[in-house]
Amino acid sequence: MLASGILGLSAETLGYILKSGAGAVVTKSVGLKPRKGYANPTVVQASCGLINAIGLPNPGINEFTREIREAKNFDVPLIVSVYGFSAKEYARVAEKAVGAGADAVELNVSCPHVTETGSEIGQNPKLLAKVIKEVKNVVEKPVIVKLSPNVTNIAEIAEVAVKAGVNAITAINTVKAMAIDAETAFPILSNRMGGLSGPAIKPIAVRCVYEIYGKVKLPIIGCGGIINWRDAVEFLLAGASAVQIGTAVAIKGSNVFKNITRGINAYLKKKGFSSVKEIVGLSHKK
Ligand SMILES: Cc1cc2nc3c(=O)[nH]c(=O)nc-3n(C[C@H](O)[C@H](O)[C@H](O)COP(=O)(O)O)c2cc1C
Repeated sequence: MLASGILGLSAETLGYILKSGAGAVVTKSVGLKPRKGYANPTVVQASCGLINAIGLPNPGINEFTREIREAKNFDVPLIVSVYGFSAKEYARVAEKAVGAGADAVELNVSCPHVTETGSEIGQNPKLLAKVIKEVKNVVEKPVIVKLSPNVTNIAEIAEVAVKAGVNAITAINTVKAMAIDAETAFPILSNRMGGLSGPAIKPIAVRCVYEIYGKVKLPIIGCGGIINWRDAVEFLLAGASAVQIGTAVAIKGSNVFKNITRGINAYLKKKGFSSVKEIVGLSHKK
């Protein structure tokens, strides 16, 4: 799947990703009202990834329903990522997204660089449960929660989400990070703090998936630093039953989807497996 926030703000760019072989697409996170996001610089290159603090720019759900209506005819699932500043807002946005044709919603309770939403909700078990329950009350389609790695115990947070009624878990969003310019002595990002993505966070993401799989029995979507088939297989072995790809699309282009799928198939064949299902969580049995 395409991860949220990368080329996901229009039906046109989502369609382009589909043609590249993605099995599902997740839109950029959308809120109740339009949001401008932060001033530049919003992205800085780190040694093995990117640090971004874009600030959740989006046109608001009312405007975005046009894109959802256009994209709902895709022949792969369309997952709309939603955020809000209260449980009621999450529910309102999710309801509108599903009303326009979303096949599922992914709750962004893990963005590390916007206050009063994102990880400030995902790090607070009570608030997290309230958001999930409120959304589940108004939405018939599957509700996926995207968790933050910026917590002491991600598996405990996953358990809270499961008890609140969520249908699947995406792990992980970006890792809170920053970069400082040695010449000017200032933080580089206009927001100072951002979220680290790309290969630098893959071992953290794999550990999170492994820990969650050990505690809960819901589908897990692995995300964080996947750039080739071997990375994807690592997530499957840790317990993910699907994976999302974000930064690699920026680094390697949209061919990553086809290349990774081809690589996974070749791996399964070489190892004598007939389905991806046979390797989900396999590392736990060793
Ligand atoms: C530029 C950029 C924008 C992002 N925007 C969002 C977003 O709107 N909502 C969200 O849930 N995650 C967002 N993310 C996080 C990604 O979906 C993903 O969880 C994270 O980058 C780790 O995966 P990756 O290493 O494959 O990029 C964004 C990431 C990047 C790099």
